[in-house]
Parts: sequence; structure tokens; C-alpha cells
Amino acid sequence: MNPLLKLSHVSFSYHEAEGETPALSDISFSLEAGKFLAIVGPSGCGKSTLLSLICGLLVPEEGSISLLGLPLKEARANIGYMLQRDHLFEWRTIYSNVVLGLEIQKKMTPERLKSVDSMLETYGLSEFRGARPSQLSGGMRQRAALIRTLALEPDLLLLDEPFSALDYQTRLSVCDDIYEIIKKEEKTAILVTHDLSEAISVADQILVLTSRPGQIQKEVPIHFSMEKRTPMQTRSAPEFQEYFNLIWKELNTHA
Ligand SMILES: Nc1ncnc2c1ncn2[C@@H]1O[C@H](COP(=O)(O)OP(=O)(O)O)[C@@H](O)[C@H]1O
Ligand SMILES: [Mg+2]
Repeated sequence: MNPLLKLSHVSFSYHEAEGETPALSDISFSLEAGKFLAIVGPSGCGKSTLLSLICGLLVPEEGSISLLGLPLKEARANIGYMLQRDHLFEWRTIYSNVVLGLEIQKKMTPERLKSVDSMLETYGLSEFRGARPSQLSGGMRQRAALIRTLALEPDLLLLDEPFSALDYQTRLSVCDDIYEIIKKEEKTAILVTHDLSEAISVADQILVLTSRPGQIQKEVPIHFSMEKRTPMQTRSAPEFQEYFNLIWKELNTHA
């Protein structure tokens, strides 16, 4: 079977009047459906650029990207993108924010709206349907932003440092929430983060990138022996520290 996502020898540079900025060099990896991939690497190494390439906002200069065996351009798969800031609109209620994507794509079908209702209910936002974003906590806003992304039924979810605007404690619990939602909805996800602990706590697979131009320094499969993991529980598992030490060393080898 084809992996959901496959990158082969992808390179990319930004071209500007002042010159060329090589951002990524020779990136190859694949991701199976239902898996959670985390990407870590120093600031400016090309992590966000990599997500932009995967969702087709940017086009690789070299190499290729395929989804379920088809080149990205021809692929039917839907990609959801969630950013660091939640981009909820203050003049819209939570409900009309959450259905915004469906509205824009003219997909406000009864089934989709029912699924939105059920996610709002399951993830504790039902009673805030009529509220404005500013009335919600940071964690609730992030959940609303995730529901808005999931409403479009993406096959692949791209998360670019989605927790970094939150304070540490909120961040831990929102990370647990978001992880649970992604697993429950059986999504495939890529999380970009500069927080190594966060990466280990959610990932089945971690890519460690070198500093710019980002190259894959190491690919680390992550496995916990516990039966049903949550990000919070993995943090106190014996394997956690071993992974941390291993990847920390990698991150600091070429620093
Ligand atoms: N639109 C752009 N034009 C020119 N250079 C850019 C642009 N976006 C990012 N860069 C540069 O490309 C490199 C990688 O950026 P980015 O992918 O945002 O890194 P990261 O997300 O890992 O911090 C950085 O050096 C950044 O300054
Ligand atoms: Mg970035």
C-alpha cells in the first residue's frame, strides 16, 4: 500500500532581490495513514516551509511530494492546516467561526453540520456556540480552531507550533485535548514544534532537522510500552527520558 504522504529528495530556496535563501535540502520521508509525525529543529531551519510545501502553498525546486501515490497536484486528498495563532474572527460567534471553512467551500451539508455539532458537544464547546472568541480561554480557542479545521474532513492535518502561544500549564492540557481529538477522529497529523518534550509526547515518529538549510539529521521511531498513551502519561514513562537524551544529543551535535 502507498503511504499517505511521501517526500522524495525535496529541496527549496526562497529567491529575493537580495539573493537566495536555501531553506530545505534533500528531504525524504514517508508517513503512514493514522500516524503522528513530529518535526523538530532549530528556529529558522525550514519547518514552516516544509509544511507549506506539503500543503501545496509552495512548490519544491527539486524532488517530489505525493499523497496516496499521486503527485500532490493531482491528489484528491484534503489537507488541513492549523497555525500558531488560532485566527478566529472576533466579529463572528464561535459557531460561525467553526463553520467558516465549510461556508467558504460551499460544503454546509446537513451531514457536515451534524458532525460539527457533535464535535462541539464532545469537546466541550456546545454552550459557547453563541460566544465571541474573546470570551473563551486560550485552550478553548485552540479546540475551536481544530474543530474548524476538522470540519473540512482533512485526510492530513498540519499543525505549525499550535500550542506555542499558550502558557505552559495550558499548553500541556491543550496538547492532551488536541491529541485525543486527533486520535479519536483517526487523523494523520504532522506537528511542527521547537519543544522536544512535546514532540516525544505525541509522536510515533520524529524527524530531527539540521539548521538551515534544513536536512534530515535523524529519523527516530517513538514507541511506548503502555497500552493507551496520552501525551501527559508518556512524560512520566521510562522511555521518555531515553528518547529525550537521544534526540537532545542529535539537536546539539551540529549546533
Ligand atoms: N517568504 C520568505 N522569503 C524569504 N525567506 C523566507 C521566507 N519565509 C521564510 N524564509 C527564510 O527561510 C528560512 C526557513 O524559514 P521557516 O520555514 O519559517 O523556518 P522555521 O519554521 O523552522 O522557523 C528562514 O531563514 C527564513 O528567514
Ligand atoms: Mg516556523
